[in-house]
Amino acid sequence: MNFEGYRCSLCGAEFGPEGQRYLCPRDGGCLEVVLDLRRARRELAELGVAVRPRAPTARDGAEPAPWGGEPSHWRYLPLLPVGDPGGRGTPFRAVGATPLYSLPPLRARLGLRQLWLKDEGRNPTASLKDRASSLVLARAREAGASVVVTSSTGNAGAALAGMAACLGIPAVILAPRTAPPAKVAQMLVYGARVVLVDGSYDQATELARRAAEELGWFCRNTGYNPFSAEGKKTAAFEIWEAWGAGRRMRLSIFVPVGDGNIIAGLHKGFRDLQDAGLLDTGPRLFGVQAEGSAAIASAFAAGTEAVLAVKARTLADSICVDLPADGLRALRAATRTGGAFLTVPDEKILEAIAELGAAGVFAEPAAAAAWAGLRRALAQGLVSSEDPILVLSTGSGLKDVGAAQRATASAPVIEPDLEALKKLLTR
Ligand SMILES: Cc1ncc(COP(=O)(O)O)c(C=O)c1O
Ligand SMILES: [Zn+2]
Repeated sequence: MNFEGYRCSLCGAEFGPEGQRYLCPRDGGCLEVVLDLRRARRELAELGVAVRPRAPTARDGAEPAPWGGEPSHWRYLPLLPVGDPGGRGTPFRAVGATPLYSLPPLRARLGLRQLWLKDEGRNPTASLKDRASSLVLARAREAGASVVVTSSTGNAGAALAGMAACLGIPAVILAPRTAPPAKVAQMLVYGARVVLVDGSYDQATELARRAAEELGWFCRNTGYNPFSAEGKKTAAFEIWEAWGAGRRMRLSIFVPVGDGNIIAGLHKGFRDLQDAGLLDTGPRLFGVQAEGSAAIASAFAAGTEAVLAVKARTLADSICVDLPADGLRALRAATRTGGAFLTVPDEKILEAIAELGAAGVFAEPAAAAAWAGLRRALAQGLVSSEDPILVLSTGSGLKDVGAAQRATASAPVIEPDLEALKKLLTR
């Protein structure tokens, strides 16, 4: 196993690998996992990652090659801070390796030279959160945890519940009572102990942290647990490989942002590749927040690293966060890669759901926000039609059918006869 310890993203203090750590004890900064990347590079080569013959790749506009070896994010085990993750023969081993679509109708409509959408809705519990939850659980299993707890707007909890079911580890989920019913149903079906909190996501997060401390549970809270970003970074590895594992990635990636852990995780993934000597220039990262939940985007616009709490309100429940748990690292993911932060109003998110749907992709509101963000970035000249673009569609539209219904007209109801149908069709 490759885990060497933790480093604080604020003060740089380093801590050894013993025991589970959460935030920096000195200043509350998010901790980053430190790996032996030289060793990782050797082991990756042995596994055949990034050493396939140079076939046409997404970078060239070709459909990416199918996954060789293990078709899941465990393919990158040498770059992950866990040993054998377990869960063979279950959906736990099917996380990641998500498809890239080129979406010709949308590419043509926006006049783009290269457009890709990575469909994270194709994960076992239908969101990108499977990457984080599976990694945190692999870690929890190694630590001998008896119970794993998390707060969640819905997807992280569904992912924890589903992945915990695969490993037989009891899970407790604290979600705001306003979480979309499909997400809550998923958690319950997977057999987790689900508690709906009559409060905000931020309040559920604080409660989960305190419960974990008091009851000795292993806490998965996004950003708080350093291993959540380690799981999310595997999306970066997949993108890099799909781009031919080249040393220079000319690419702009659009990422929906709530706590900021997905975009921070992607940034960590590309930095790991750089530190392993496998990549020189990584992609530009663009964070997209809902206008009503824009703590990080506001800091970006103000040119400061001080991310301040807002009173969040947006229909995109997955990115509805007052004070992002991973705000600083998320901000740096954009500023240090030549990217930016953008905001989009809820109406544009609903439009994006319909536009993606018409191209064959059913995205939940947060995921569609990334698409709306791309449109805004093009309008603002932050990216050009010549720039290769990737939109990270982070969750399936089946997660939030209510929002999907708001994005479309409702279907008419008729009597079961042909005349009624013909009359309707001529209307
Ligand atoms: C579908 C989806 N997209 C985006 C996000 C935002 O991720 P983060 O909170 O790490 O910024 C989430 C988080 O719950 C999500 O579920
Ligand atoms: Zn610190």
